[in-house]
Amino acid sequence: MNFVKIAKRTRAISPFRVMKVLQRAGELEAAGRKIVHMEVGEPDFTTAAPIMEAARQALGNGHTHYSNAAGLPALRDAIAGFYQDRYDVIVDASRIFVTPGASGGLNLLANLLIDPDDGILMADPAYPCNRNLIRLMGGEAQLIPVDGATGFQPAVGQLEQARTANSRGLWLASPANPSGTVIGRDHLQELLDWSARYRLHTVMDEIYHGLHYVEDLPCLLELSDDGFVVNSFSKYFGMTGWRIGWLVVPESCIELTNTLAQNLFIAAPTLSQHAALAAFTPAAMEIFETRRAAFQERRDFLYQALTEIGFSIPSATEGAFYLYAAIDRFSEDSEEFCRQMLETHGVAITPGTDFGDYQAHRYVRFAFTTDMDNLRLGVDRLAAALGS
Ligand SMILES: Cc1ncc(COP(=O)(O)O)c(C=O)c1O
Repeated sequence: MNFVKIAKRTRAISPFRVMKVLQRAGELEAAGRKIVHMEVGEPDFTTAAPIMEAARQALGNGHTHYSNAAGLPALRDAIAGFYQDRYDVIVDASRIFVTPGASGGLNLLANLLIDPDDGILMADPAYPCNRNLIRLMGGEAQLIPVDGATGFQPAVGQLEQARTANSRGLWLASPANPSGTVIGRDHLQELLDWSARYRLHTVMDEIYHGLHYVEDLPCLLELSDDGFVVNSFSKYFGMTGWRIGWLVVPESCIELTNTLAQNLFIAAPTLSQHAALAAFTPAAMEIFETRRAAFQERRDFLYQALTEIGFSIPSATEGAFYLYAAIDRFSEDSEEFCRQMLETHGVAITPGTDFGDYQAHRYVRFAFTTDMDNLRLGVDRLAAALGS
């Protein structure tokens, strides 16, 4: 098959290093080692029982066909109801599109919004797929180096400096991966005003909403009807493997979004959509809130324990399930550090180089997606390895 000509733009795509960590951890486990997993970006909890039951019923009722490209009307209505209950925002269900995960939504938006050579402003570090998607469209990911000084979120002054004549959009995430920091209400308003001034589109990834530990976490839709919101059932709702998420688009984009959804994926998985309907029941919500409290307890424990060992965490986690920690006391090379922690000490974590270039060798990401016993074991191993 070496005669196959591969599209040039794929050369700009980088693989997930975390997958390599995961694979190596699996090999070590197969060889009999106990590995503490703090690399995995998905909740360790199995999907909540009411969702499982709804899926069983949907299967029993033979719901095995395609849905509309935009998703089941009942689910779009339920998501609109969720915005009203949680955020006191009225969103017409016609603006909501059910997608195969947030990934499907991001892919759709990249197709909808990006022409070759368009520049998209985004933070570095950030979720790595976005810059790859932009490059696949022939666009330019205009990376803004962020650190603890701005809570790992872009400040307007930085955007002003980074903006060029070809900038067309601003892609944000709150809470963010890998730092777990949020964009506060005033800051979000400033960002939206700035973006509007230059007629840029704004995309906000809200996939970690619900898993937040601060009082006020604004949703973009509270402040604007013109932006694009990406969300998912993967994280707060604990449905990573079901591949289901959603988009909210401005009214002017409804028709084109529908056409793109038809062409890109036909529809999100129907069984998953029926299952997700149960995510909005009080019984399921109670389970999610218990799990959120468990994540908060883990965060508190891990933040303190890692700080005591000598990691430096410039911005405390306000949402999601990650801590982004500097390793200056121990190493200048996050990839080598992660390799050693895994190979020698059986602790799997992700190097900062997965999330961008800026200071990436100084940082590692800890995911607290494993239970307290495992976290304690991980911390004990790190403390022994790093001499405190
Ligand atoms: C910030 C962010 N956006 C999107 C995704 C994709 O999520 P999914 O496709 O499972 O909904 C992830 C997954 O880790 C993420 O961290």
